[in-house]
Amino acid sequence: MLQAVKTETLKEQTVPKSNGNSNGNSNGASKVERPEVKLRPRHVSGGVEEILDPFCDPANPRKISFHDVTSAAFLIRGGVERTPCPKSTSSDLYGMELYLKKDFLQYTGSFKERGARYALLSLTDEQKRTGVISASLGNHAQALCYHGWKLNIPVTVVMPKAAPIMKIQKCRNYKARVIVDGNDMGEAKSLAMRMSQDEGLLYVNGYDHPHIMAGQGTIGLEILEQVPEPDAVVVPVGGGGLIAGIATAVKSLSPKTKIIGVESEKCASFTGAMKNKGPIHTPIKNTLADGLAVPKVGYNAYATAMPLIDRMVVVKEEWIALAILRLVEEEKCVVEGAGGAGLAAILAGHLDELRGKKVVVLLCGGNIDTTVFGRCLERGLAAVGRLVKFNVEISDRAGRHQ
Ligand SMILES: Cc1ncc(COP(=O)(O)O)c(C=O)c1O
Repeated sequence: MLQAVKTETLKEQTVPKSNGNSNGNSNGASKVERPEVKLRPRHVSGGVEEILDPFCDPANPRKISFHDVTSAAFLIRGGVERTPCPKSTSSDLYGMELYLKKDFLQYTGSFKERGARYALLSLTDEQKRTGVISASLGNHAQALCYHGWKLNIPVTVVMPKAAPIMKIQKCRNYKARVIVDGNDMGEAKSLAMRMSQDEGLLYVNGYDHPHIMAGQGTIGLEILEQVPEPDAVVVPVGGGGLIAGIATAVKSLSPKTKIIGVESEKCASFTGAMKNKGPIHTPIKNTLADGLAVPKVGYNAYATAMPLIDRMVVVKEEWIALAILRLVEEEKCVVEGAGGAGLAAILAGHLDELRGKKVVVLLCGGNIDTTVFGRCLERGLAAVGRLVKFNVEISDRAGRHQ
């Protein structure tokens, strides 16, 4: 835990009211009220009614505060790894004092455990008995299932049919109820919301629930302890919860530190939201950074992060492939596409203004499919001309040389 808090730099205290005083929970965690689940008709495909998640209400976006992040740090300590943040062996090569925050070293392979554990620990005793539900393709599902198992809280995850079998199996290994349904994340989420209403389960959005954002913010506290007053912290962005939490922590304690978000060109939904001055559906394409492939950023995440972000950068896929290759070759780190996006921005030359500066890049996930990993390495090698494909026609007639 950080000892000194510069209270004069704290941002507006807009703590979600669900974080009010504890009553009913045995661990002193802030209480998540049983939300009133509203039915709100929407013109979704097939004319199906969509249920609104009361914690992520577009009409009432909630910002988290520094206090929320420190509460999360207090509650999850001992339950998640405090990951290392060493100086990169390639600092000189990149012309900056570069540090790599290795949060892919969490037990389930990503930072998502921080928010998941905090959200679970913040439930009331009754909610802990009933359990929670979420829809996710990967890292959030694994984190929630694993910590639910460890904390003895029932977890249900709805995973779309396209979810990788390995990830589905991992969630089952963590003793969760895993429902594989829906053709995409949208359908999986609709089903999860309906089940949440029918079974009285709390829906935990993987990037927009206030407790999820606060939990992810604990990375920011650790970074500042490990690398005091960095000039910049570079954070991959999907739904926006990760950068919202980190920015809240970092800007409160070190206001001069620049917060730089990175997205793939294939799913630049935060950049789209900035242009639109609010979250907007952005078409996404296949990307190596599947963890960042969220078509619309969270309303709470956007409201929290937007005033604190100094710059957003969009990178091409080739640079993500090269970053994955470089991290294996030079740092001995296996990261997934989303985890390599920060370094990709440096390799692409998008952050040249940080030369000579102290920069922390977050390596936030390592759950990469082995076949995708192989293809990434090939693409990375090809991008720097170390792997060339060519076709040769050779005559098989004896004595012919041409
Ligand atoms: C490895 C990894 N990095 C980054 C992100 C982005 O986090 P957020 O959606 O909170 O912006 C995700 C989200 O799933 C992820 O899995």
